[in-house]
Amino acid sequence: MPVRIAPSILSADFARLADDIAMCEAGGADVIHVDVMDGRFVPNLTFGAKIIEAVRRVTSLPLDVHMMVVEPERWFDDFAAAGASGMTIHAEVAPHLDRQIARIKELGCRAGVAVNPATPLAFVEEIAHELDLLLVMTVNPGFGAQRFLEYCVGKIARARAMLDEARSGAWLEVDGGINRATVARCHRAGADTFVAGNAVFTAADPRAEIAALRDLATTVTV
Ligand code: DX5
Ligand code: ZN
Repeated sequence: MPVRIAPSILSADFARLADDIAMCEAGGADVIHVDVMDGRFVPNLTFGAKIIEAVRRVTSLPLDVHMMVVEPERWFDDFAAAGASGMTIHAEVAPHLDRQIARIKELGCRAGVAVNPATPLAFVEEIAHELDLLLVMTVNPGFGAQRFLEYCVGKIARARAMLDEARSGAWLEVDGGINRATVARCHRAGADTFVAGNAVFTAADPRAEIAALRDLATTVTV
């Protein structure tokens, strides 16, 4: 199974964002994870199209935009124009998933759906065959540096089975509390794409941390 490491710039130094992104790229990051929060779906506020556009200018890596916002369709056109490679919307605030996913694809982006820790996979089951990415949250979204919720591991395994059953090639992403202690368990459960904010950006050497997460995901067997 492939392993993709996706540093989340939520934990980057915004005054030195270009440097931090260059560092991730040098460390072999596969994707840059961009956390958009609206202060409504989650109790925190981050940024929008202007930052996506600025990030797009300094890297050629795919930009995986995680939209923790209500009414995400309001931003699809702007984010696509700003250079998003993929947009992931939350099932909890997306009552028209079929239409919303189709629109993201129409804009030339990969379409993802995220589920909070307490949200059942049944929310996305009927549409699994249409997904380019399924994000299983392993913390309650809103903040970086939270503790990984252990009970989500079983859900990752069920998500893997659900995608396989649907013959879906969607990436199975995990986000929240991913670090050296948790990455292997998520990989073993079937995740292939690992978001890491705090673990990468508080490391003494973020480049080495990206490599370490990748190695641990694939080699640790206990
Ligand atoms: C949480 C965000 C995450 C966050 C992960 O709401 O969606 O992407 O940045 O951060 P860590 O890796 O610090 O848990
Ligand atoms: Zn995220």
